Amino acid sequence: MCGIIGYTGKKNARKVLIDGLRKLEYRGYDSAGVSILHDGAITTVKSSGRIDALEEKIGGEVPGVTGVGHTRWATHGAPNDRNAHPHISGDGRFAIVHNGIIENYESLRAELSAGGVCFKSDTDSEVVACLLEQYYDGDFKSAVYKTVGRLEGSFALGIVCADCPDRLFAVKNMSPLIVGVGEGENYFASDVTAFIAHTRDIISLRDGDVAEITSGSVTVYGPDGEEVEPARSVVTWDVEAAEKGGFDHFMLKEIMEQPRALEATIKPRVKNGKIAPEGLDELDISKVSRIVIVACGSAYHAGVVGKYVIERLCRIPTTAELASEFRYSDPIIDENVLVIAISQSGETADTLAAMREAKSKGARVMSIVNVVGSSVANLSDNVLYTWAGPEIAVATTKGYTTQVAMLYMFAVWAAVRLGKITEARERELTQTIMTLPERVQRSIDLNPKIEEMSKKYHTYKTPFFIGRNFDYASCLEASLKLKEISYIHSEAYAAGELKHGTIALISPDELVIAYCCHEALYDKMMSNVKEVKARGARVLAVVKEGCERIMSEADDVIYVAETDPLFMALTQIVPMQLFAYYVAKENGCDIDKPKNLAKSVTVE
Ligand code: G6P
Repeated sequence: MCGIIGYTGKKNARKVLIDGLRKLEYRGYDSAGVSILHDGAITTVKSSGRIDALEEKIGGEVPGVTGVGHTRWATHGAPNDRNAHPHISGDGRFAIVHNGIIENYESLRAELSAGGVCFKSDTDSEVVACLLEQYYDGDFKSAVYKTVGRLEGSFALGIVCADCPDRLFAVKNMSPLIVGVGEGENYFASDVTAFIAHTRDIISLRDGDVAEITSGSVTVYGPDGEEVEPARSVVTWDVEAAEKGGFDHFMLKEIMEQPRALEATIKPRVKNGKIAPEGLDELDISKVSRIVIVACGSAYHAGVVGKYVIERLCRIPTTAELASEFRYSDPIIDENVLVIAISQSGETADTLAAMREAKSKGARVMSIVNVVGSSVANLSDNVLYTWAGPEIAVATTKGYTTQVAMLYMFAVWAAVRLGKITEARERELTQTIMTLPERVQRSIDLNPKIEEMSKKYHTYKTPFFIGRNFDYASCLEASLKLKEISYIHSEAYAAGELKHGTIALISPDELVIAYCCHEALYDKMMSNVKEVKARGARVLAVVKEGCERIMSEADDVIYVAETDPLFMALTQIVPMQLFAYYVAKENGCDIDKPKNLAKSVTVE
């Protein structure tokens, strides 16, 4: 993970770097540092802890208009001052920041140590600074290329050299890195949010690209060192979209934004009452014998929902696989398999690895991604962007629901092409999809009630989420939300499985949150609710509006807006996003930056 930033221009680099690092803190926040160039020397300040701690340590002004910064999520070496970035070459000439993992760092370290290099940290990254020193003969670019040629693994690097004021090198290989083009100043960063306050003109680097950046120019070179045409574009959202906008936390803001985000996902893809996603022209769904969805975390849970919907509508066998497992399972994949990768950030290393594995076996890879121009998007044969806008809170909310909505649309689109649904059903489903933003708003309107409920239930130690089928998919996501941000352990259980063992854990101290929205399975769910009630558990039920029967069974009930049974997963997750948020708030947790997690996991 980690976030990196670089700047050269007219402004004071310290301020630009610190402000940018604050925007990147979601990527990792156990230590941070900056290196600033001035008068042929590099000043470096590093600190364990968050950006505030770094700023305090820097103290007053630091002169200089060129520099690099880093916020860390520790992989190699404890999160302390010594292992914080930037790392400096032994002669003090180079400072580097790194996001990713140098996989061959042990052999490089051994080689450099044998040559007399003394390492100052336990990180894999420090070898980069040492190699630069070794290869430098007065030509900065040549030293960068020789160094990069020795590295294996994933890396986004930012490099400054004391001999070259007003010059930065940025290197991208399987870790995110974007250049921001300003007027008389230029930036690079792991994510545009770091510099969006200054410029929206960006250059997306491809894997293997090296950018040479001065205040007045950006030159992009390919892996062979030859200049290449930069891939320029303009970011359409602005700084406001990346700010909290009056909410206490980004997570709450992003929950509230869901109707708008869903509209952005859905509306442009409905034409004349039909679903018309862009970018699927060359996908011949009639040739697809099987669909495999690969993803991590919440995106995987969206995939579980997708599996159920695609199978029901298209009758194509579909599985949802954890990307980190898929890769090592020697998967049975051929050119008739469509692999759908789902990722909010588009940079998740496990998802990318699964995609590469699938591609190497001949599969077509389609992706559902939020971040435009991300690695997942670039690796895909077809891309469906969710257009949810920037998501900052580590725990995803609008990222997840827009992925689910995109899967619904894909399923309807595919079912039509396969002749599995009538035109009348297509219109009916499309119209229902169009109403989802408004139905999600009704779930959001439950906010005061959910806040109240969280006060009642925030002390329960190990809540169980139970549900069947679509409801079970929601249990997985609801349980993860609660665990991620409130650190309360919870279990998501397919309700029918409870009696196969874990029902022994149900006691009067337990809270069971029962999803009973799937109408066809309502009676079966009632049996499960009765089973846990019989063992004394408190039951909080999530049901569709109008379901009165539940009153006699549950201690508390949350009613969510009804929609087509195929699409309930979308409206029913929102109350549990809010529940997790308020429980975490009651318990005084750091909601937007839960401990040990990161928004974008670019290591396997
Ligand atoms: C991390 C985040 C999760 C997210 C997962 C997949 O673990 O903490 O919230 O669901 O990565 O991220 P992606 O960007 O691929 O959707």
